[in-house]
Amino acid sequence: MGGVFVELKDIRKEFPGVVALDNMSLQLKAGEIHGLIGENGAGKSTLIKILTGVYQPDKGEICVKGEKTSFHGPADSKAKGISCVYQELNIVKELSIADNLFMGSYVKRKGSPLLDYAYMNKKAEEIMSTMGQDISAKELAGSLGMGQQQMIEIGRAVLLESDVIILDEPTSSLGEKETTELFKTINILKEKGVAILFVSHKLEELFELCDVVTVMRDGEHISTTPIKDMTKDLLINHMVGRTLDNLYPKVETKRGEIALEVKGLTREGEYYNVSFEAYRGEILGFAGLVGAGRTELMRGIFAATIPDSGEIKIDGKAVRLRSPKEAIKNKIAFLTEDRKQQGLVLTETIEKNMSLVNIDRLKNGLFVNVEKIKEQAERCVEKLQIRTPSIHKLSGELSGGNQQKVVIGKWMNSDAEIYIFDEPTRGIDVGAKIEVYNVMNELVKANKCVIMVSSELPEILGMCDRVIVMREGYKRGEVTINSTNFNQESIMKAAWGGTINER
Ligand SMILES: Nc1ncnc2c1ncn2[C@@H]1O[C@H](COP(=O)(O)OP(=O)(O)OP(=O)(O)O)[C@@H](O)[C@H]1O
Ligand SMILES: [Mg+2]
Repeated sequence: MGGVFVELKDIRKEFPGVVALDNMSLQLKAGEIHGLIGENGAGKSTLIKILTGVYQPDKGEICVKGEKTSFHGPADSKAKGISCVYQELNIVKELSIADNLFMGSYVKRKGSPLLDYAYMNKKAEEIMSTMGQDISAKELAGSLGMGQQQMIEIGRAVLLESDVIILDEPTSSLGEKETTELFKTINILKEKGVAILFVSHKLEELFELCDVVTVMRDGEHISTTPIKDMTKDLLINHMVGRTLDNLYPKVETKRGEIALEVKGLTREGEYYNVSFEAYRGEILGFAGLVGAGRTELMRGIFAATIPDSGEIKIDGKAVRLRSPKEAIKNKIAFLTEDRKQQGLVLTETIEKNMSLVNIDRLKNGLFVNVEKIKEQAERCVEKLQIRTPSIHKLSGELSGGNQQKVVIGKWMNSDAEIYIFDEPTRGIDVGAKIEVYNVMNELVKANKCVIMVSSELPEILGMCDRVIVMREGYKRGEVTINSTNFNQESIMKAAWGGTINER
């Protein structure tokens, strides 16, 4: 392992009403993969933005190769060899891989105003190939999966010969296979002597990938430990400041009537002939690999898109929903996977966002009941432990995980009977996950119907009463909690290639 490439010393960063970082120190070394973990709002993304020159610290020092420096903007940091792959990918889908890689640093032919595509294509293929991606550089970026698009972003860092590469929650929208590919690439970069900073809420990933892990809490440094000396319990303890003994607090409930019945639902190119029932008082899981058609199916049920054929019954009555508005009227709540685009108005306050789905109930005649709205928002902030100085903060100013909690809070307030949660715990910390599970528990205890789409098998097995497995748009199996097939192996098998036949 090489020397310290970049060091942060006693960094402080304040936003109005919030100290995002205080006394925070971190060293990134050549050839080392450094994991960074902490609860939502702990200050991880802010730390990254200090490293990449997006924010300037109020106090503290940044040293690159032992020399004190300051970054006046992202270009400064980049010039010093630091690159970052943000969670929201910055890829132009209509352009080729080579175009995307060389964006902003196009190479021209010698003595000519024309771009040297022969060179750029060759170089781009070389770079992608060192990352295990043997694809033509002329292919359009949009035709690639999320994993490969992310590789293009990492490829940009490789092209710049960056000494430090930062990845902020890179696996949150990747499937198993893509994650494995990504880890291979990260390890290749490590072998080349690159210093890596890897942020993730998935504990298993840190153990699999990292050499050393830093935990932060409330903007401060708690510990930096070689991963071989770390345990999962200790990591959680450092993160939340206490031990959590039950990560999946499932409660016993009684299965009630069928709330939702789906028969032969099909939408060309998305899902085919899917039939299932979802009961009140039950958490029904949807497992499968990313791209198995689960989200598309849920969007079809919620009428965000209209299925080509098939039937939907709610409480035994056939319905033909034509819009999400009608779905909400029929008491369906849909917590979308893509919260940024579909779930949250970033330019509005937490309070406003939380009242959006049930504004009718919050009215007294023509007037909205201001007190009630406030009370409801405060209850959610408390319950979901949303880290914010007040309910009047703009949602866009919250940390990623806290934004997701606002969306959950918003739907928690709806008076729905059928709740569809699509990847509800993606990007949120362990403590908050338990809070989300408790919300689900309360719903099923109140005899409501809960459907959870999740790519995290432990959470599916830990919380669901029954699981449907999908693959390539088809339902491939169904298992109930007391079946011998209610385990990781059987479900994975159905998700990858086989089927589970129990009925
Ligand atoms: N631009 C901003 N304006 C105001 N407050 C901000 C801004 N950016 C971050 N904060 C606040 O700083 C704190 C740290 O946020 P940060 O995004 O760094 O957390 P995080 O550790 O990345 O969390 P997550 O796991 O949820 O992504 C939070 O309380 C957040 O609300
Ligand atoms: Mg963050």
